[in-house]
Amino acid sequence: MLITFEGIDGAGKSTQIKKLQILLQKEGLESITLREPGGTEVAEKIRSILLESRHEISPVGELLLFSATRSELVQQVILPALQKGIIVILDRFYDSTRAYQGYGRGIDLSILETIISLSTYNLKPDVTFYLDIKPEEALIRKFSEKSLPLAFENDDLDRMERSGLEFFRKVRNGYLDIIRLEPQRFTVLNALEPPVVLHRQIIEKLRTKIPALEARNHY
Ligand SMILES: Nc1ncnc2c1ncn2[C@@H]1O[C@H](COP(=O)(O)OP(=O)(O)O)[C@@H](O)[C@H]1O
Ligand SMILES: [Mg+2]
Repeated sequence: MLITFEGIDGAGKSTQIKKLQILLQKEGLESITLREPGGTEVAEKIRSILLESRHEISPVGELLLFSATRSELVQQVILPALQKGIIVILDRFYDSTRAYQGYGRGIDLSILETIISLSTYNLKPDVTFYLDIKPEEALIRKFSEKSLPLAFENDDLDRMERSGLEFFRKVRNGYLDIIRLEPQRFTVLNALEPPVVLHRQIIEKLRTKIPALEARNHY
């Protein structure tokens, strides 16, 4: 069982993944949570390239490096785990590539599909939870996290964030487009709901997919 979480930064993916991990553990279901880029020796090395020289890598270069780490992770970690019946949870997968590099950065979508199918060995999630949030709302969460209550009163920052907002609007619209093409795989959640409500909705969906969860009442 492969479960992926998608949504822009600040949507609440990490929060929900943590809750899900705890629940699966409590239920005695073996799971691993992974996050790209990384997870194998080679992928960790590529990760340090991506993070250290982030500003000097072109969008295409970035795409290919991310794809290289993904293919390592899929082949060496994800596929073997799935084969053993372990539940694999991914904090972002190829839908992020489509939304960010495709819709956000403007890389040709059909070329992206080729690179995605190559680097994932055609592996597809059984279920994808998309946490939907407006970029403005996500930004407010980010600011409150860093306790920068004056951020919106600062002209420079405001201008900077406005151009950032445009990018994240494209990404969000990209996600919504992707979901329209594959509605069965996605569960769309309103990220503004409280964490416990979202968790309940996630469990509700997973109960139909994981027999061990189906038998019990969790709330
Ligand atoms: N449903 C929610 N309602 C309100 N705040 C939330 C919710 N989920 C997460 N948060 C807060 O929003 C911020 C971003 O959440 P996080 O889970 O790190 O998002 P992501 O991993 O998608 O970037 C954190 O400060 C978190 O506590
Ligand atoms: Mg996160």
